[in-house]
Amino acid sequence: MTDIVQFIKDLPKVELHLHIEGSLEPELMFALAQRNKIDIPFKSVEEVRAAYDFGNLQDFLDIYYQGMNVLRTEQDFYDLTWAYLSRVAAENVQHVEIFFDPQGHTSRGVAFETALGGITHALDDGKSKLNVTSKLIMCFLRHLSEEDALKTLEQALPHKDKILGVGLDSSEVGHPPSKFARVFEKARAEGFLLVAHAGEEGPPEYVWEALDQLKINRIDHGNRSLEDTNLSARIVAEGMALTVCPLSNLKLCVVKDMQKHPLKKMLDLGIKATVNSDDPAYFGGYMNDNYIAVATALGLSKDDVLTLARNSIEATFLDDAGKKRLRDNLEAYALKAS
Ligand code: ADE
Ligand code: ZN
Repeated sequence: MTDIVQFIKDLPKVELHLHIEGSLEPELMFALAQRNKIDIPFKSVEEVRAAYDFGNLQDFLDIYYQGMNVLRTEQDFYDLTWAYLSRVAAENVQHVEIFFDPQGHTSRGVAFETALGGITHALDDGKSKLNVTSKLIMCFLRHLSEEDALKTLEQALPHKDKILGVGLDSSEVGHPPSKFARVFEKARAEGFLLVAHAGEEGPPEYVWEALDQLKINRIDHGNRSLEDTNLSARIVAEGMALTVCPLSNLKLCVVKDMQKHPLKKMLDLGIKATVNSDDPAYFGGYMNDNYIAVATALGLSKDDVLTLARNSIEATFLDDAGKKRLRDNLEAYALKAS
């Protein structure tokens, strides 16, 4: 058992599903509240952590949007992103493709450029000082209107050099991908890569819609795809990657216990599943914890873990040279560790 744990800790990893606002640790939440003179409805870090007990996605989202209220200045976004990058660099994460939720900030009067500036400055430093490379994806909040998403897309257009892709997150059920078909069509025409949360709580039909109507390049979560054999077969045939988030699934009751997590089944079917942390400050762990929790619960082998790590590299939005660098590192590790 220890063997697989150490193997995972030393493994060179890639993260493809991380909401930067979901990496806001309670300690930083308090520090930023103090710095910005904002009242938060908690007296201590322990009290904050005790509130992180969720029955479903919406329970979490209510707390998540409340938490991000302490983010006001470019420095706040820098500190948030830098804290995440430092943490994952110490876990041998080599490349990250992270989300941010601009509407969660512009709706509070924080400028799009304030959030973007702080995040991208930290990502640049992550590359030069920590050797962690990155891509940035902007998510639309699906509980808001198509019009609001279109406005947000307009705000992103001058920043195509910093924002590689667009995604879709927030309350899934009742807000199907089809609601944003025109927004994604415009984003695609503007050259953005496309991802969407689908099949986390929503039915397989939402995954079909994300593929057919949004024409996404990668599926975020996608767990419920397994309920539909035709859909699973299509995902395999297209080599479509799923960004799976084990501890998130457990905390949000998408799975009842980790031993019932569908990750092994996905691998057995030939689905390009990957392991990611989603909102690590809220769900109890970063990349190593996610890999370790799911690998130990499902009895994954080192080969399974290597398959997951390889899937992540192939599913990145890096060019061939970028992928090759990661591949070479991983294969050197695999040789040494076997
Ligand atoms: N926003 C942040 N985390 C999310 C998740 N797991 N699902 C949907 N929206 C999110
Ligand atoms: Zn997510």
